[in-house]
Amino acid sequence: TRPVTILGIETSCDETSAAVIRGGKEILSNVISSQIEIHKRFGGVVPEVASRRHVENVNGVVDEALKQAGVTLDDIDAIGVTYGPGLVGALLVGVAWAKALSYAKGIPLIGVQHIAGHIYANFLSGGGEPPLIALVVSGGHTEIVYMPAHGVFEFLGRTRDDAAGEAYDKVARAMGLDYPGGPQIDRMAQSGNPEAFQFPRAWIDDESMDFSFSGLKSAVLNALHNAEQRGEEVNKEDVAASFQAAVVDVLVEKTVRAVKQTGVQNVVVAGGVAANKGLRARLTERAAKEGFGVHFPTLDLCTDNAAMIAAAAFPMYEYGRFHDLDLNAIASLSL
Ligand code: KG4
Ligand code: ZN
Repeated sequence: TRPVTILGIETSCDETSAAVIRGGKEILSNVISSQIEIHKRFGGVVPEVASRRHVENVNGVVDEALKQAGVTLDDIDAIGVTYGPGLVGALLVGVAWAKALSYAKGIPLIGVQHIAGHIYANFLSGGGEPPLIALVVSGGHTEIVYMPAHGVFEFLGRTRDDAAGEAYDKVARAMGLDYPGGPQIDRMAQSGNPEAFQFPRAWIDDESMDFSFSGLKSAVLNALHNAEQRGEEVNKEDVAASFQAAVVDVLVEKTVRAVKQTGVQNVVVAGGVAANKGLRARLTERAAKEGFGVHFPTLDLCTDNAAMIAAAAFPMYEYGRFHDLDLNAIASLSL
């Protein structure tokens, strides 16, 4: 028998993406149509604009993914689609398209939670099987999740205010950088002094795996503001490096806590901030020292894409966990 072939569709935010995955791990195609250029001039994602763009793009993106994979819908065993969390109008486009294809062709439908998709991005590059600890660091979420088995998620910690990616984007905006600012701050941080500014680290207490980034964000904004008041020129590379050091310190330390408290030695990182060079270097170094395993998705699979959604649908296919045509988009769907 030929390996299971899954079509993934992702439209939760500002990327329209479709992918074809074989055997749960082999990427046959992963087409991503980004709207970043359109949203840049507004300084962030405009929901109504995003929905319209998805409507215009989804047909072509799905066709292109099938074409690049060298398959047709008749070769597809299941359709995995993101149904939350995200912008509800944006999600609805992918969900409606997936349902239409499922109905027209009699292909089983699997709704995928977006953050689960980010976690499964790791599987596409040989990332650990469960049990595992996932450090989730995206634009909307910052969480430490214990995953004992496929499809089972327990929260060990979560942010009490801003997500890590959100803090990056807000600091970047204050520094006059384009949306999304995370990658640019990361780049600038490489040539700055991480000790130039003493920005706060929110440990909360000795045991907690919760996060808080709003204090840090305010401290950075204050530093920028004060310099401006005094008519001083701040070294933006130093601000970026010092901010990044504070974020990475906390992310790494809390992940180590999770490993120590659970005894689970297998860590994966998930979400856009998993692309961060500082985080990748420091967590890899610390894991080697503490003796646990850590895996990151390949760089192109850290931010939103449909390959990870198809990968997450694969174990559900194996378990026979399908959705009916009454599947609906849920803006605040939890793991
Ligand atoms: O996971 P994602 O694509 O979208 C959500 O599901 O939220 O993450 C996007 C976030 C943005 O906040 C972006 O600034 C951040 O990931 N990001 C980074 C880097 N690349 C993307 N943050 C820091 N360093 C990076 N290299
Ligand atoms: Zn995402």
